[in-house]
Amino acid sequence: MATTDTTIAKTLAEQGIATPEEIVTRFEQVFSDFGSQLQNAHDESAWKVFRDAWLGRKSGVLTQITDNWLKPATPELKRVVGQKLNELRAHVELHIEARRASIESGAEASALARERIDLSLPGVVRPVGSHHLIRQVFQQVEDIFSSIGFSIVEGPEIETPYYNFEALNIPEFHPVRDDMDTFYIDLPKGAPTPLLLRTHTSPMQIRTMEKRQPPVRVIVPGKVYRRDNPDATHSFIFHQVEGLAVDTDITFCDFTGTIEYFVQQFFGAGVKTRFRPSYFPFTEPSVEFDVSCIFCGGSGTAASGGTCSKCKGAGWIELFGAGMVDPAVYSFVNYDPKKVSGFAFGMGIDRLAMLKYGIDDIQVFFQNDVRFLKQFP
Ligand code: FA5
Repeated sequence: MATTDTTIAKTLAEQGIATPEEIVTRFEQVFSDFGSQLQNAHDESAWKVFRDAWLGRKSGVLTQITDNWLKPATPELKRVVGQKLNELRAHVELHIEARRASIESGAEASALARERIDLSLPGVVRPVGSHHLIRQVFQQVEDIFSSIGFSIVEGPEIETPYYNFEALNIPEFHPVRDDMDTFYIDLPKGAPTPLLLRTHTSPMQIRTMEKRQPPVRVIVPGKVYRRDNPDATHSFIFHQVEGLAVDTDITFCDFTGTIEYFVQQFFGAGVKTRFRPSYFPFTEPSVEFDVSCIFCGGSGTAASGGTCSKCKGAGWIELFGAGMVDPAVYSFVNYDPKKVSGFAFGMGIDRLAMLKYGIDDIQVFFQNDVRFLKQFP
């Protein structure tokens, strides 16, 4: 945006201007040119061109007027030219600076308008995950047993046959191993011992007793693996909590009292319990522990009048295996079976969760369908 006034390059004499009045009129023209050009400097880049056209040191209008009008002026006219030039300079500088400020604040205003935060918009929903139901049930079991003095230990999911079987009084070729037919790890030839995915949390009984002297009171939450075919109540990966209490004077009464306390805390006061004789090589006597069916209230009859499908009319549901620790096990960990006694149990956490929350298919725990998971926030 250079000025269009080409006569600025000429001296006043060349323009035919010879009196102070003519000089004033000529300057008025320049003022008016400046005013109309100023209107066009409406953004930052146009403003810069405009500023250089008027204030540029080499060829700006003010420099040209100084060089072409003031310097060659006769001594009589120089005073008027100088005075008018000073007025012009002050005017130009003032308005160019004012225009810069207004462009800048306009840009700021429009940037502010662009970036304005609309507080009336709905917030961004960031979904927060929650613990899986199995994890929640683990936590409930851990809390109950912690409250009566049990501590929590964890152990390896890859075990040696010694800890998974032999030290639990299950020698090679014992028929119980058939029930636990399981996953062995492929190892290089010459490996010192075979390795398998543990079939229960019971190996941690041995590992704990190897490390600690009685009194021992631990629970062991964890994952276990068996080559079971998946169905509504079986999975090839599932979860157990092992319990072990060993001291010098633990009786079967301590055992039943502890288990009943747990069941009341976990399921609520209305639930009845019973023990049935069973067999595990590492407990003697061994029991299966049942609770009265929470679906039919132990009657065996569904609300609709037919047989309760959950307990199949029995009124009882099997919860877990347990018993007094077999004295043979103590010899594997150098405890004196004449001095110590204790009890152990192993509960299936998936089955506990199914019973407590009325879930009829164990597979939903492993499918991770959010529609299911969201029901247990
Ligand atoms: C055992 O695993 C023994 N170690 C339990 C034990 C510990 C007995 C200490 C005595 C002393 P069992 O094979 O019955 O026992 O398994 C225990 C529980 O795991 C069962 O009651 C059941 O709740 C659960 N369970 C067993 N197999 C599966 C499976 N395939 N899928 C889901 N849960 C299972």
